[in-house]
Amino acid sequence: MAFSTTLKALVILAASASQVLAQNCACGYKDNSGHVWREAIVSDFTQASGALAAVNANWIVATDFENQPTGTANIQYTSANVFQFQDALGLKASAYDNSGSVKCAEIFTKRADIQYGTFRMRAQVPSVPGVVFGFFTYITDSQEQDIEFLSSDPDYYQRLYYTNQPGQLPNGDVDPNAAKNVVISGADFTTFGNHRIDWLPGATTYSYAGTSGSGASITSSTTISKNVPTTPSEFILNVWSNGDQRFSKGPPTRDAIATVQSVNLYFNSTSFSATSFSNACRAAGNIAPCSV
Ligand SMILES: *[C@@H]1O[C@H](CO)[C@@H](O)[C@H](O)[C@H]1NC(C)=O
Repeated sequence: MAFSTTLKALVILAASASQVLAQNCACGYKDNSGHVWREAIVSDFTQASGALAAVNANWIVATDFENQPTGTANIQYTSANVFQFQDALGLKASAYDNSGSVKCAEIFTKRADIQYGTFRMRAQVPSVPGVVFGFFTYITDSQEQDIEFLSSDPDYYQRLYYTNQPGQLPNGDVDPNAAKNVVISGADFTTFGNHRIDWLPGATTYSYAGTSGSGASITSSTTISKNVPTTPSEFILNVWSNGDQRFSKGPPTRDAIATVQSVNLYFNSTSFSATSFSNACRAAGNIAPCSV
């Protein structure tokens, strides 16, 4: 008894010490490539106060209507489709009700000043056909880098689309230097896995780390050097469908849900300069950056 109480006290002490350390990142965040980032948005959708509390802290839930001339239905982003789901965040495109628009889900960062960084998501993809699940930076249609999952693909559980927009050439063909359609053989995106975008000047690296159906660990990485965005941006997650036969297919006949456990964004921004950062770090005693 005494032993287990002592052990418990030690565990609590260790946990609170690591929390204190985790919070003191005045000298930024150093990633495994050695890049240092000045700021972070860490959204743990499994936290005790709930997924929506993590959403409200840093994100805006989209409620806009998007007319879709090329689709068979329009998109109505709906706040009810961003919801607490199985100890995580659910993003849902609802079963189509023939109303003319599909109820879809989108969250975007309150901040639109993110410029370069490493962006990570731990999630499960939707398995109901007819939707797109996206994880991306965005400010305009030609300043955008995307990871997209298409649930209508027969091998949707291991195929993804990495695109630095525009992903098409002026003649409408896919631009193979800007858009890569990647199959990660053996991956199972319907189990939780980590998807990542590293945005650097001149190169976007897209990567995945997860497990196969049989539990083996799988990693994959693809770099795109064309159309790398250069402009301060937002970060967005969404699940949508417009029923077009070329891309999203659908609309879905059942609710299609992406399940997101966490999104961690480590980045530089135009609002917190290198000089201000370096002053803040010096004031904190030039401590080591936090490892991420
Ligand atoms: C991000 O900020 C850090 C610290 O100011 C700086 O050293 C680094 O070069 C910046 N990275 C990019 C890609 O701008």
